[in-house]
Amino acid sequence: DGDVYKYYADGEWKTSSSGKSVSILNPATRQVQYKVQACTQEEVNKIFESAKAAQKLWAKVPLWKRAEALHKAAALLKEHKAPMAECLVKEVAKPAKDAVSEVVRSGDLISYTAEEGVRILSEGKFLVSDSFPGNERNKLCLSSKIPLGVVLAIPPFNYPVNLAVSKISPALIAGNAVVLKPPTQGAVAGLHMVHCFHLAGFPKGLLSCVTGKGSEIGDFLTMHPGVNCISFTGGDTGIAISKKASMVPLQMELGGKDACIVLEDADLDLAAANVVKGGYSYSGQRCTAVKVVLAIESIADELVSKVNAKIAKLTVGLPENNSDITAVVSESSANFIEGLVKDAKEKGATFCQEYRREGNLIWPLLVDHVRPDMRLAWEEPFGPVLPVIRISTAEEGIHHCNANNFALQGCVFTRDINKAILISNAMETGTVQINSAPARGPDHFPFQGLRDSGIGSQGITNSINMMTKVKSTVINLP
Ligand code: G3P
Repeated sequence: DGDVYKYYADGEWKTSSSGKSVSILNPATRQVQYKVQACTQEEVNKIFESAKAAQKLWAKVPLWKRAEALHKAAALLKEHKAPMAECLVKEVAKPAKDAVSEVVRSGDLISYTAEEGVRILSEGKFLVSDSFPGNERNKLCLSSKIPLGVVLAIPPFNYPVNLAVSKISPALIAGNAVVLKPPTQGAVAGLHMVHCFHLAGFPKGLLSCVTGKGSEIGDFLTMHPGVNCISFTGGDTGIAISKKASMVPLQMELGGKDACIVLEDADLDLAAANVVKGGYSYSGQRCTAVKVVLAIESIADELVSKVNAKIAKLTVGLPENNSDITAVVSESSANFIEGLVKDAKEKGATFCQEYRREGNLIWPLLVDHVRPDMRLAWEEPFGPVLPVIRISTAEEGIHHCNANNFALQGCVFTRDINKAILISNAMETGTVQINSAPARGPDHFPFQGLRDSGIGSQGITNSINMMTKVKSTVINLP
């Protein structure tokens, strides 16, 4: 157990010259589960050099061959799902079943990206000049999409495999190289995933995976002159990165405080089922989790009692046993959640269940009668704690949603489709789901946050486009 997982550079598995490692704690047992290399800045420099050289050659590999390599990686990923799923259970306490589906979903995402890339990257544009005033038809413009260069991919702990491939595959199909910095919790799942790309036979140096302490290599990576694009998913760090990064396109998906507006005419069973699924799946550790319920006063009691009945059925325990609620990722995360809970208690919110915590395991909690002066009304717990705010009109709900700095998704429950569309239009957030909980997938749908929730848009097609730039050649006729 003194083993330290190697990092991946130049097509090889390597030990860092630092002689140091980073320990990964199992969130449930709070014991050291794995160790990874603490890479040095010099090693990062070397990785960017190789990536740049590999990218130049990769951009010349025919598109259909790049797609073929990705399809191979997708198949390998599905074939090797077991070791990755095991890491997701041990490193981030993801329930076993969800861990397997994350890997399968990732294989599908890679294949879809390869197919989509083949189609959209084969299209260019041809323009003639005489449509613009003052021009004759003597200029012919041919434009197509070319890669950006080296993409720095930084996925978060909650989907260390899926949100890594959602950055790697669009980058590679478009002819870019990728430097992956996996989250510390989830790094070993990430290394296994990279192994599948290794087995698929991508050129040496094209994809590398650097592990280490954020404090030592975090800024060094994001501010590295070798970076041509940053694709980041995570928390506040994203805002700091956006301030430091220079002149490179950014794709950022940060936090969310997705509101669930439930109107008088809603199907309350449907709403309750989605509040529970949306609020408590993976113990609320999803950017797209339902993070505040805004219920019209007249139906709030009935909704709350339906939600409570479902919460009572959630199982709490170990991810290995497929428990619905498992330990949150770290002690500091559990402490943060507890801070929000205490604040709501002190300010007079109603607890529908008893607050209970053992180590990093927090029992599911619905907090009713939350008011705007409570932190829980605005902040993102990233845990199994969900506030209910009672509202008297839909406008009040819309106002609450728009007053938050987070603006990822949101949802509205009503049987009146016209009302639903008007509310969706009024909610200033990246996506509004009608009669279902927020969700990123299916993975080819556009996925974006407004305000502090992000920059740019993801989803397979948008990510491919974002990781390219337009190049034109103009033929000037005599
Ligand atoms: O938290 C990351 C975000 O991408 C959530 O994805 O699939 O759980 O909606 P999903």
